[in-house]
Amino acid sequence: MPPHFPHLFAPISLRQRTLKNRIVFGAHTTDMSYERLPGDRHFGYYRERARGGAAMIVVEPVPAHRTGRLIRGNFLHEDDRVIPHFRRITDECHRHDVAMIHQIYHTGAHADQDNSWEPYWSPSGMPSLGDPWGSHAMTEAEIEELIEAFVQAARRDKESGFDGVDLFAGYGALIDQFWSPISNRRDDRWGGGLENRLRFAVELCTRVRKMAGEDFIVGMTVSGAEPVPGGLSIEDKQEIAAYLDQRGLVDYFSVGTGSYLNQLMKIVPSFHFPMLLGIEDAAKYKRAVKNALVTAEARIKTPANAEMVLSEGKSDLVSIVRGQIADPHLANKAREGRADDIRPCISCNQLCIGRRFRGYWISCLVNPSVAREHDWDGDVAPRASLPRNILVVGGGPAGLEIARVAAERGHRVTLVERDAELGGQFRLAAGQPERGEIGQLLSWYQGQLEKLQVRVMKQTQISADQITSFGADVTVLATGSMPSRHGFQRAFPHLPRLPGVEQENVCTVHDVLSGRIVPGHRVLLLDDINGWWPASGTALHLAQQRHLVTVVTSAEKPAGALDLSLTGETTRERFAKFGIEVILTTAVRAWEGNKARLVHLYTQEEEEREFDSLVLATTNTPDNTLQEALRDSKLEIYSLGDAVAARTAAMAFYEGRKLALSL
Ligand SMILES: Cc1cc2nc3c(=O)[nH]c(=O)nc-3n(C[C@H](O)[C@H](O)[C@H](O)COP(=O)(O)O)c2cc1C
Ligand code: SF4
Repeated sequence: MPPHFPHLFAPISLRQRTLKNRIVFGAHTTDMSYERLPGDRHFGYYRERARGGAAMIVVEPVPAHRTGRLIRGNFLHEDDRVIPHFRRITDECHRHDVAMIHQIYHTGAHADQDNSWEPYWSPSGMPSLGDPWGSHAMTEAEIEELIEAFVQAARRDKESGFDGVDLFAGYGALIDQFWSPISNRRDDRWGGGLENRLRFAVELCTRVRKMAGEDFIVGMTVSGAEPVPGGLSIEDKQEIAAYLDQRGLVDYFSVGTGSYLNQLMKIVPSFHFPMLLGIEDAAKYKRAVKNALVTAEARIKTPANAEMVLSEGKSDLVSIVRGQIADPHLANKAREGRADDIRPCISCNQLCIGRRFRGYWISCLVNPSVAREHDWDGDVAPRASLPRNILVVGGGPAGLEIARVAAERGHRVTLVERDAELGGQFRLAAGQPERGEIGQLLSWYQGQLEKLQVRVMKQTQISADQITSFGADVTVLATGSMPSRHGFQRAFPHLPRLPGVEQENVCTVHDVLSGRIVPGHRVLLLDDINGWWPASGTALHLAQQRHLVTVVTSAEKPAGALDLSLTGETTRERFAKFGIEVILTTAVRAWEGNKARLVHLYTQEEEEREFDSLVLATTNTPDNTLQEALRDSKLEIYSLGDAVAARTAAMAFYEGRKLALSL
């Protein structure tokens, strides 16, 4: 047994298979399909996690039935054409000794008619929680049809080479809608007493087992208590798990957090939630069952956390989803005693579930190879045929990533940073309340650059002349962007400057977060970026420092841009807790002395309010001074990230990696 993380790397039996360790790459919708089939993007994505050492992969769910189609990218349901495409993935991953499981789902009352063009089928016709429409209470014949659809989906999975299926009975999906008296109000043999409410799950598991045979794994994704009065308690869930377990119907229970009922943000919990969020529920399931294995989920993230969960006997397996999205080689690195080399997920949700909610394939803010594994041959950069001297100017996300990957490829890299610390604006973000996980990522970069022998020159301002005489083969300008000090607002595109913006009591979020300026007690924060972190995070930072904070925004909702990463609601909760005032659909006409002239964008009514300081959270301006100075240079020069156009850190990391792979 490897000396590192002994519980994590202890093999365990799961039906006919021996799992080589306890690390599961749990179920998650990646939205990567091509014409609703798993293509190269899926293949590369799962292959990389199989190469990376996970013991079990639960592949993105397929809807069991036409009424359960949820997203545009869902795999073809009820269609054997998927088989060869999945077979390609299972064959490849099996080469790396990984158990391959496929989740099958149906979300009952909460589907999406725009994708399915079907009524949503549910136990009792309760309204959908995903949209304002009603669902259809299934007849008994329809229940039979649906069970058969699940069985056929499992048959397809068996023929695709999967070792088993994961039946989705968590968060308030179809199967647990049958379990819950809130959503199951039937008075036939599918509703009423517990045995009747469990009949759907029992029939499903029994018939899948009968079809697939004794060596096929039948797992189940479940979740904790229903977070509403009269909903299933965790004790009820324990009773259900015990019932299924006693009958030998389920080989593992994977215990997620959150619910469609009113806790969507807990299903993929951001840094606003504590680490190890789900382990107490998992421990309760484990106490309830005698035969099935139990997988803990949610914010386990690191091998050290996982080891703790297992060593305390809270679960048998651990699902690490975002941790292995961010670093597909997490398992191998942990096994080899290289846990420090694991690129940490920062629990931001911005490019994984955040992109999925926008209908794009998922990727990762801190790892641009995610979903590009097939094109980039994985997450490890190949050696360059010709090592070159590379000068990188700027140590923010773009500069860090190009320096790291270029050095990994064997280039000799010098990184020059103006500030005393690396990280650029990302370091400022790390100082916002609860965003400290960004600091872990920056420490990781620091460590990787040291290991790769990148020469890092901090507190060094380099001029165009010095760049010219430096003698690099390649110069990369990753100089980032600067806060804009003109107070431009998108509500007034014809006005280049906010009248009064030059006054001394006006500053930017960068001034505040860097500690360069401490604004007065009563702060008006002008949010012209729809509540993105520079605005909302700084409002929270100021409130925490006991300033009286008012946010004025042309948006219709505070922190609205954070909703897609499941951090909007939790940010608004914090706004309420700190007493942050928000003035919506309003812009600032002028800043006069200590007074803001506010204009409501619907009514055009004006109001004057008094504050001590105005803090600008507006779109940045690229810092392209060096680009301008070197415009006619004969050097091989590239510009990256915000130095080209002020955008998110994700684009900077991506452009850094992409350029490094091309050099
Ligand atoms: C992009 C994304 C999509 C997800 N989709 C599913 C899904 O289809 N089925 C499921 O059971 N869980 C889904 N989840 C939840 C994960 O299985 C897991 O419970 C959650 O990410 C918390 O674990 P983590 O902290 O290890 O990421 C999804 C998570 C993410 C990030
Ligand atoms: S996008 Fe953010 S939360 Fe998602 S895996 Fe990457 S770092 Fe983690």
